[in-house]
Amino acid sequence: MIKINDIVKIYNPKKSNEFEALHGVTCEIADGEMVAIIGKSGAGKSTLLHILACIDNFQSGEYYIDDTLVKDLSEKKYAQIRNEKIGMVMQDFALVEDFTALENVMIPLNFSKQKIKDKKQKALEALKSVGIEELAKKPCSKLSGGQKQRVAIARAIVNEPSMVLADEPTGALDTKTSAEIMELFKKLNSQGRTIIIVTHDMNVAEQCGRIIEIGDGRII
Ligand SMILES: Nc1ncnc2c1ncn2[C@@H]1O[C@H](COP(=O)(O)OP(=O)(O)OP(=O)(O)O)[C@@H](O)[C@H]1O
Ligand SMILES: [Mg+2]
Repeated sequence: MIKINDIVKIYNPKKSNEFEALHGVTCEIADGEMVAIIGKSGAGKSTLLHILACIDNFQSGEYYIDDTLVKDLSEKKYAQIRNEKIGMVMQDFALVEDFTALENVMIPLNFSKQKIKDKKQKALEALKSVGIEELAKKPCSKLSGGQKQRVAIARAIVNEPSMVLADEPTGALDTKTSAEIMELFKKLNSQGRTIIIVTHDMNVAEQCGRIIEIGDGRII
């Protein structure tokens, strides 16, 4: 379960270009939920998602993941939370183009002490669960948009996180591929993972169990 309470996010605090992107956001997401975050461009969707993913800080308010208060933790503790609890699918895939699909999925495992052989096996299983095991050895530069998105999802789930966060995962995909990727998220959700998807697409949002709308840095 995650819980945020009155979160305020200010970019460039105390500088001339200071900008308050979130003005006190409060919400709760239970384990196993599938939630869409929608809102106009610039509303603060990615900002909120990055805070939930523990890849950005915030100025005030509280964030709890399973009763752990996520604030001012050591870098090591943040890394541990990200590793164990959070899988993040970035807006533009954020894959290493020269790496193969398998190598990309192995990146989050590089920090763990497991044997290389076991890491490969784990990465292959993640690729299998997103349906592209046979593309393991292909460089990402040679994959289609939908295939890249699958690699990005495989990389997000390779550590078996309890929640998967995705920023516009269907934004760059055609309707058919987008439907396939949504099926994949629904499958991951049915396996018990919490899924949080930022989207502009109402069709995508309506496939989620709940919709949270953000407007101008506030929940509507
Ligand atoms: N690094 C940054 N520095 C300063 N301002 C920022 C930064 N990132 C985002 N902002 C501002 O914060 C506000 C919210 O941005 P955010 O990226 O969260 O919007 P969004 O809802 O994800 O929009 P989009 O749908 O276009 O992706 C915007 O006004 C944006 O200009
Ligand atoms: Mg965004």
